Amino acid sequence: MNQQSKPHYDFLSQAFHWVTAIVVTIAFILGPGGFGRLMRQGIDPATRSDIVWHESLGILILVLTVLRLLWVALRPGTPQIPMASWMRMSAKLAHVALWSLLLALPITALLTLGSEAHPLTLLGGLRIDQMPLIADSAIAKLADWGDVHQFLGDAIMWLAGLHAAAAIYHHFIVKDGILSAMLPPKRTP
Ligand code: HEM
Ligand code: HEM
Repeated sequence: MNQQSKPHYDFLSQAFHWVTAIVVTIAFILGPGGFGRLMRQGIDPATRSDIVWHESLGILILVLTVLRLLWVALRPGTPQIPMASWMRMSAKLAHVALWSLLLALPITALLTLGSEAHPLTLLGGLRIDQMPLIADSAIAKLADWGDVHQFLGDAIMWLAGLHAAAAIYHHFIVKDGILSAMLPPKRTP
């Protein structure tokens, strides 16, 4: 079997995967520590580039994830690589958890801002000062959404780390072509 005939994720699935992985990592690095203290000091978050970039990249992740899920529903199929059923099940579970976190992170962020009456501040001077639908809802009072968001932000990085370690293990030890399936096909001369 030459490289070209090995099963691969389609180009769009690969592009969504790697762009999301890079943007999530940058958003995590820019996670605004001490946000509550800054707000209590009356600092406008629009004046803080880490906050503006973090929130803009986070919203980009939400948009990418929704588009990507639409593509998952429409795409022709994914590579079926033979493996032990416990491995297949663990990979499925990890994917479901990653998908859930990709959606839960922006949602808990909006719940944080809405319930604490802080503005959403995005690149290009875009801002939403009030989110009355969230502020007036019962869900706003259910939790300290800032703490939940921070916990989930840490969780996605731990899980993505494990998921990446599993991909590298498959590549070098099991040698079943899973990682290559998520990379562009090698050109054969
Ligand atoms: C995958 C996307 C995201 C990741 C991985 C992420 C990660 C994080 C992390 C780790 C923190 C805690 C930082 C620290 O305390 O050192 C944080 C805080 C925060 N993030 Fe995100 N975030 C994401 C998306 C978003 C979005 C979409 C928004 C805005 C709409 C947002 C707004 C905030 C705010 C306001 C805080 C401060 C929360 C508080 O302390 O009360 N984040 N984020
Ligand atoms: C924040 C970082 C990451 C997130 C959120 C993430 C998320 C995901 C998701 C949701 C899938 C399923 C994709 C689909 O069905 O189209 C997937 C597949 C995959 N990811 Fe990641 N990923 C991340 C980082 C990485 C890294 C760093 C690697 C490699 C070192 C990697 C390797 C793979 C591979 C090989 C697959 C295909 C697995 C299979 O078919 O069972 N991912 N990833």
